[in-house]
Amino acid sequence: MNQNSAGALDVVVMAAGKGTRMKSRRPKVLQDLAGQPLVQHVLGTAAQLHARSAVVITGHGAEEVETVLSARKQGLVLRFVRQEPQLGTGHAVQQAVPVLADDGVVVVLSGDVPLTQADTLQALVSECGGDRLALLTLEMDDPTGYGRIVRSPSGSVHAIVEHKDANDAQRAIREIYSGIMAVPARLLKGWLARLDNRNAQNEYYLTDIVKFAVADGVQVVAHTIRDAVQVAGVNSPLQLAELERAYQRRHAEALMADGVRLKDPSRFDLRGELSCGQDVEVDVNCIFEGRVVLGDGVRIGANCVLANCTIAAGAVIHPFTHIDGEKLGVTVGEGALIGPFARLRPGAQLGAEVHIGNFVEVKNSTMAKGAKANHLAYLGDATVGERVNYGAGSITANYDGANKHRTVIEADVHIGSNCVLVAPVTIGAGGTVGGGSTITKSTEPGALSVARGKQVSIANWQRPQKK
Ligand code: UD1
Ligand code: CA
Repeated sequence: MNQNSAGALDVVVMAAGKGTRMKSRRPKVLQDLAGQPLVQHVLGTAAQLHARSAVVITGHGAEEVETVLSARKQGLVLRFVRQEPQLGTGHAVQQAVPVLADDGVVVVLSGDVPLTQADTLQALVSECGGDRLALLTLEMDDPTGYGRIVRSPSGSVHAIVEHKDANDAQRAIREIYSGIMAVPARLLKGWLARLDNRNAQNEYYLTDIVKFAVADGVQVVAHTIRDAVQVAGVNSPLQLAELERAYQRRHAEALMADGVRLKDPSRFDLRGELSCGQDVEVDVNCIFEGRVVLGDGVRIGANCVLANCTIAAGAVIHPFTHIDGEKLGVTVGEGALIGPFARLRPGAQLGAEVHIGNFVEVKNSTMAKGAKANHLAYLGDATVGERVNYGAGSITANYDGANKHRTVIEADVHIGSNCVLVAPVTIGAGGTVGGGSTITKSTEPGALSVARGKQVSIANWQRPQKK
């Protein structure tokens, strides 16, 4: 989407409200939807519109909201203004006036309405066209609580009447104002200066600007959509969960339209970005976080959590595997077999055909093609060569209590079961380490190394008897 004919866009996000019904210590607009604060979704949409700036109006929990958003701005010029106390939506937008340019179009959004689509807003901005007041509206079966769109007999919009101020005839109107508008900044500023709070709630209503537009001969246009999810706000944990599902459904359907086989789209959770090659299959109850890339033919078993990782073509992630690359990332090579019950941590870089079995943890380690650690093992800060077999119960002791050290296991090494490799240490190529060994010194290529108490057997040993 490019800059529209109406000129530059500035977004105003109302985010000062309390959200009493969330019954949470956290401000409502910071509640999590699909891994992001609600208001972050709104700013993401603003960024997709190529808005020139976004002004966030904060109040309840202002400091926390500002701190969180400052840390994650997404290529958008972000400004904060405070609204203290909160005297209504008109009063909220009044606070933005000093930081709003005169030459643009202002799109008014709410920080607790996360699922508005950018193309909907783009259409609204086009309706505004730089000289009209454009309102996003919706027909509702039960419009209780919303501002009603009052039209003249000719059909043109001449007012928004809030539910609490409406008479019976007005309450019968099913077309409601969504809370989203696009308006030329210069006109908006003039109208905001004329607001009063003489109404049922003694609030400064932003919606009163419709009357002023009509009085000033400025055209008011309604852009009506059908999809209520796009304008739905979050007031309670139930509504938050409903919008979470709507978000997940939307993304599940988009992935399936691209050919991804989700076993059940209602048991799929995306909390970041997921990109998939051809013939990817995802079983139920998987969660994807951060940036996840799945190559052609990848299969993900049930109940896996995958975050910040790249899984190459043909790899299989068996059920109950947890992968989190955090900042370093995790890569899994072509045709690798991971899990069930495996844990891959930041910096795990696994080559092609690597096998990682149940209860194996790998952190900050590279494993070359065909290396295997099939049961109950830990590999941390290790460099593992091709075809290494790393036995059950073996660990790299990579931490001396102060510093971390590397373990190098060269190609074709066989590490027996229950070994401790005390880093820094290198196991030479083709070597073998006997089960139960604690290895503290590097070993020569091809050597068998055993480091444990020698076996002692006492013949005919009598166990103590109970007295
Ligand atoms: C508003 C509209 C109503 C519309 C409805 C859609 C007004 C007067 N009414 O209703 O026509 O149908 O939205 O949901 O605008 N906020 C502030 N400061 C305030 C008051 C509100 O920042 O002083 C924020 C809230 O946190 C929320 C948003 O503005 O994010 C909307 O406020 P809310 O109270 O939900 O809307 P209503 O006034 O009920
Ligand atoms: Ca209100």
